[in-house]
This record gives sequence, C-alpha cells and structure tokens, in this order.
Amino acid sequence: MNHTSPQDLTSRLAEVIAARTALNFPEARRDELERRVGPTATEFGFDDTEAFVDWLAASPMTREQTEILASHLTTNETYFWREPKVFEALGEQILPELIRSREGNDRRLRIWSAGCSTGEEPYSIAIALRRALPALADWQVTILATDINPGILRRAAAGIYGEWSFRNAPPWLKEGYFSPTGDGKRRILPEVRQMVEFAYLNLAEDNYPSPMNNTNAMDVVFCRNVLMYFAPERARQVGQNLHCSLIDGGWLVVSSCELSEQLFPQFACVRFPDAIVYRKKPAVPSPDPTFPSETAFTPQPGTGDRRPGTGDRPESRLPT
Ligand SMILES: C[S@@+](CC[C@H](N)C(=O)[O-])C[C@H]1O[C@@H](n2cnc3c(N)ncnc32)[C@H](O)[C@@H]1O
Repeated sequence: MNHTSPQDLTSRLAEVIAARTALNFPEARRDELERRVGPTATEFGFDDTEAFVDWLAASPMTREQTEILASHLTTNETYFWREPKVFEALGEQILPELIRSREGNDRRLRIWSAGCSTGEEPYSIAIALRRALPALADWQVTILATDINPGILRRAAAGIYGEWSFRNAPPWLKEGYFSPTGDGKRRILPEVRQMVEFAYLNLAEDNYPSPMNNTNAMDVVFCRNVLMYFAPERARQVGQNLHCSLIDGGWLVVSSCELSEQLFPQFACVRFPDAIVYRKKPAVPSPDPTFPSETAFTPQPGTGDRRPGTGDRPESRLPT
C-alpha cells in the first residue's frame, strides 16, 4: 500500500536523482520525471514506484546502476558542428594560437568533450583540429570524450550516423570526413575515429581533475548543453572542477544559452565574432600581445556587439 502522495514521491525521487547524477528535475519538469520513472523502476526490477524510490534513497549505487539511471533520465540531443561560430572560433583563432605557442618543443594538445553524447561534438573537434593542424602526426594529441550514459558512448565509439546528425553541418564536413555505409548512413573515417578516446565519467562525482582518468591539464574543455540540466549549485561545482582541469589560459566552451556569470565567475569572457568562450585567467598575464586574456578578439565589422547568435536551436534551460 502506498503511503506517500504522488507529488511527494516525485519530489523525493527528484532529490535522490540530483544527489546521484546532479540532474535537476524542478517543478516544471516533474511531469517528464513521472513519465520516465516507470520504465526506470521496471529496469531495476520494481513494479512499485514507491518501493523503487525507497530503495534508491537507501542504497549506495554501483556505477552500473548509476549508468542505468542516467540512461533513462538524460537528454542526448546533439549534432555535428553545433553552434558553428564556436567551431569557427576554435578552428580559426583558439587552435592556431595554441599551435603557435607549442610549435617549438612542447607539441602537445589536450581537449575534453565532457557530456559528449553520441560523439558528434568530439568528432567535430577532431575535424576542426585536422584542418587547423596539417602536421598532426608530429603532435601528441588527446581528445577525451566522456559521458555518464554507456549506451550512447557505445554508439559514439561506433561512429555511424544518419542524416539527422548532419542537419547543421557544412557540406564539406559530411563529404570529407565520412564514408557511406551502404544503408544510407555515414561512418566517421578511421583516422578521425582514432583521435577520440571515449570513457565513462559522471560529472556529479568529485573524481576530476585527475591523471587517473586523464582529465587534468586540458587546453580546451567543451561542456555544452549539459549543465543546463543540473541544479545551479551543482553546475557551479562542475564549473569549478572544470576550471581546475584546465591549464592557465585554457578555454571552457559552454553553449550560448549556458553563459552565466553566476555559474562561471572564475573565468574571463573572451568575445569572438558571434561567440563567447570562457578562458581560465593565467596566473601570470600572457606576454603575447596577440593573445590577450580578457574580452579580446573584437567582432569583425558588421557582426555587432551582442550576445552570440547560435546559428541553431538552443536547448531551453539555463540555471540561474
Ligand atoms: C544534450 S547532450 C549534449 C551533447 C553535446 N555536448 C552537445 O552539446 O551537443 C547532454 C549529455 O550530457 C550527459 N550527461 C548528463 N548528466 C551527466 C553527468 N552527470 N555526467 C556526465 N554526463 C552527463 C548526457 O548523458 C548527454 O549525453
């Protein structure tokens, strides 16, 4: 017999989920949570939701159980070259400058896509890097791509995509970096595939940065359309951890609808044409005048001085 009202049960469930995964189901998303909980409870072997919530609240979860929970509750929407202006800033300004600064004796680049979903984002980064760095073979490059959902990580590693994943991509990307599979899909070229290393990582846990999971000393971190689903205090904590994962002067890319002084107070805002990217303030100001640390990269004539247009449809939530 149920003792808890459905509303109280959903509130308790939201609390437990926030504690385990940082995913936030505020009042406005409770209907969605109610829809998702039934299949989740069934997969855990419960036919009674209250018993499932009691169990969830009482037991520490294994990684496998966290993965199952996440696979029912996360939003995995993604596509290639999402927010094209960000990839233009990456390919035309950020990467060339990083490459110039390392060309001498430290030919290393480390990039992390945190919350990579089915892989369109890290492969887009790999493609941008191939275009910016023709001498790739002479460099030690890491592109780490992590997610909490192992099912989508498996799809990411397979690297096979339907047309929908290319809905925002320039034609050269689809034509130049994929081969047809014969059934209307496209497979990422092996030389791009092998640039990206996929791994499980729950951003709600406090196990990064660490050399143990290769999340330290990053030059660039993409964490886009992930923190908008977190409660603000958890998003702030992740922002702080990602700050620690970056080298001095490293870059944090969030989606245009996640830009927030409250969530990322420790970063400088750098303005590119129609895109804003966060930068970890160097402990010692950069001596390189072509690469100043704050609100640099003045917009090109005609682009105006405004909040970046995304060039595509942003997701809808922004923690405040
Ligand atoms: C909407 S997708 C964003 C994909 C890509 N970054 C982009 O912007 O296109 C959000 C991803 O974040 C992942 N995610 C959600 N909570 C997470 C957590 N606690 N740790 C790691 N990844 C998480 C989800 O599994 C999902 O794949």
